[in-house]
Amino acid sequence: MPLLINNPQQQSHWYSFNTTAELERAATQAILQAALHSISLRRTFHIVLAGGTTPRRIYESLRKADADWAAWHVYFGDERCLPADHVERNSWMAAQAWLNHVAIPRPQIYPIPAEKGAQVATSAYAQILAGIELFDLVLLGLGEDGHTASLFPGHELSNAADAPTVIVVENAPKYPPQRISLSAHRLSAARKVIFLVSGVMKQQAVRDWRNGVAIPAAAISPTTGVDVYLEAALLT
Ligand code: 6PG
Repeated sequence: MPLLINNPQQQSHWYSFNTTAELERAATQAILQAALHSISLRRTFHIVLAGGTTPRRIYESLRKADADWAAWHVYFGDERCLPADHVERNSWMAAQAWLNHVAIPRPQIYPIPAEKGAQVATSAYAQILAGIELFDLVLLGLGEDGHTASLFPGHELSNAADAPTVIVVENAPKYPPQRISLSAHRLSAARKVIFLVSGVMKQQAVRDWRNGVAIPAAAISPTTGVDVYLEAALLT
């Protein structure tokens, strides 16, 4: 039974796991379950991928899954302004770990074209997202400073209702300095949001979050609240 934490702007459900492997297995199952549910109701599944390193083994597990891939549409919560084939790109990691190995139709995978320059990329991606009122599932990571996607402390989070869908992030504290990110408001337009939190260096960010500190992750506020999958050690 998840522990419910209510802070002013965000309802969060915390699921703790004794090992990283258990967290990854549960997250993989939750993603596949969300896809089955969405496809049974709407014949499509629109998922936003998290970047960073935490999701890699989850994506590798999905490579082996038996899913109705033709119904999947894959987006990215943020992207680093690097060449499209750069090993530090979030789209590159997801492709190597998973997307290059399953039969999701290529036109249904939507990398953020960050290699085309920030302004071109933000307007192009905003157009791609214009047709999607609600994502079925958004996956997000958590940084040591409480950031999520490329929404960093002290930077514009764009969580107002009239916020742009996609924003350019300059001077990011995490390499590379220039990034493209979905806004907090756009990331909140989802039927389900799952945060994937692993690594002892996240402990302070988790503590702040649970104590109601307004870290960027706390600005993600879908109507159904957010699910946080984390290692039990981060709750001590
Ligand atoms: C990125 C991610 C970022 C990431 C967190 C956690 O581009 O880096 O979007 O938000 O999810 O920084 O990163 P790790 O999973 O590597 O700890």
